[in-house]
Amino acid sequence: MEQTYIMIKPDGVQRGLIGEIISRIEKRGLKVTAMRLNVMSSESAKEHYKEHAEKPFFASLIEYVTSGPSVSMVVEGKNSIAIMRAVNGATNPVNALPGTIRGDFAIETGRNVVHASDSPESAKREISIHFKDTEIVSYSKIDEVCLYE
Ligand code: RTP
Ligand code: MG
Repeated sequence: MEQTYIMIKPDGVQRGLIGEIISRIEKRGLKVTAMRLNVMSSESAKEHYKEHAEKPFFASLIEYVTSGPSVSMVVEGKNSIAIMRAVNGATNPVNALPGTIRGDFAIETGRNVVHASDSPESAKREISIHFKDTEIVSYSKIDEVCLYE
C-alpha cells in the first residue's frame, strides 16, 4: 500500500481546519497511519524542504512552517501520493480548483494550508524525516482486531 507524508501547515491549524482536512482525507478513502501535532524544528523543516534551499522564498518558507504547531501525518492507500496532490490542489491557490483544500481555504502561495509529497522518492524521504518506523501503524492489523473480534 502506498504511503505519503501530509502536513497541515501552521495556518491550517491556527484557523481550526484540522478536522476538516482529516475528514476530507478519510472520506476519500485513505487512512491516517501516523499522526503528530507539534512545532516543527527548524532543522526538520530545512531538511524537509531542502530541494528549495536555493530559492528566494526558502527563509520565509522555513519561518512559516515553524511558526506554530502543524500536524504531520502518514496517509496510506492505493495511489495515495497522486490522490493527495489532487486533494490539496495547485501550489498557488489562485490556480487551485474549488473542491480542493487550497481552492476552498487559501488565497496565497505563502499560506497554502497543506503539504503533500510529490513522488514516491519524496514520500519515503519525508516520512523518514518526521516519523520512526515504530510510529506508523499497520491498518491490516487494526482492521483484524476492530472488525472481526
Ligand atoms: P508543498 O511542498 O508544501 O506541498 O507545496 P508544493 O509541492 O505544491 O509546492 P513547492 O513548489 O514544493 O513549494 C513548497 C512551498 O513553498 C512555498 N512557496 N512559496 N513565494 C513563492 O513563490 C513560493 N513558492 C513556493 C509554498 O508554501 C509551497 O507550498
Ligand atoms: Mg513540494
